[in-house]
Amino acid sequence: MKFEEMLLKRESCRAYQDRAVSREDLLKICEAGRLTPSGCNAQPWKFMIVDESEARAKMCDALTVEGGKTGAPWGKSCPAFIALVEQKADVKPLVLDYYKDSQVFAQGDIGMACMNMCYQAMELGLSTCVIGLNDQQKMESSFGIPEGARVRMVLAIGYSAEKNTMRPKIRKSLDEIVCINKWS
Ligand SMILES: Cc1cc2nc3c(=O)[nH]c(=O)nc-3n(C[C@H](O)[C@H](O)[C@H](O)COP(=O)(O)O)c2cc1C
Repeated sequence: MKFEEMLLKRESCRAYQDRAVSREDLLKICEAGRLTPSGCNAQPWKFMIVDESEARAKMCDALTVEGGKTGAPWGKSCPAFIALVEQKADVKPLVLDYYKDSQVFAQGDIGMACMNMCYQAMELGLSTCVIGLNDQQKMESSFGIPEGARVRMVLAIGYSAEKNTMRPKIRKSLDEIVCINKWS
């Protein structure tokens, strides 16, 4: 599939078939994350695969925050997740001196890794949905994620159960988001 076609065809999936995703495929998706560029090549990430039944139940719980709110009410149908966890970034002295913040690029880096992982999944015939909301404390207690290693996003991965449902892409127009040579 050409890249432009992938851009148009990728969409978030919120209903999955009852079909496991192979470990091999999940590792390939992590490999796409691993190869992602990052500020100062700091690679401030760790990818946690969650594909066993008990761990998946814990993940669904950790995706539910105070008051029972969740970005993934459909999570139980999903056969696999990969949590993208922010690690301490070892950035160049120049960057640290200027920003006084070693993590200044880390969230952007993780977003880029996540996108590469989505497209790798797509090439493998899998569908994905990024889940932004999670309870960090539950992540720490359920999975032993150390304090300070923030789960920035969780990627839900599986075979889509949504049939012929290509939704229209609701996006701002190019005019609204592009300006040329000066701000307008
Ligand atoms: C950082 C981030 C967080 C997101 N969190 C959620 C979420 O919690 N639940 C959900 O169903 N979709 C979530 N999404 C998916 C977006 O709603 C979706 O990408 C957007 O509406 C565009 O639709 P599309 O992905 O189908 O093109 C998230 C996407 C991103 C990038």
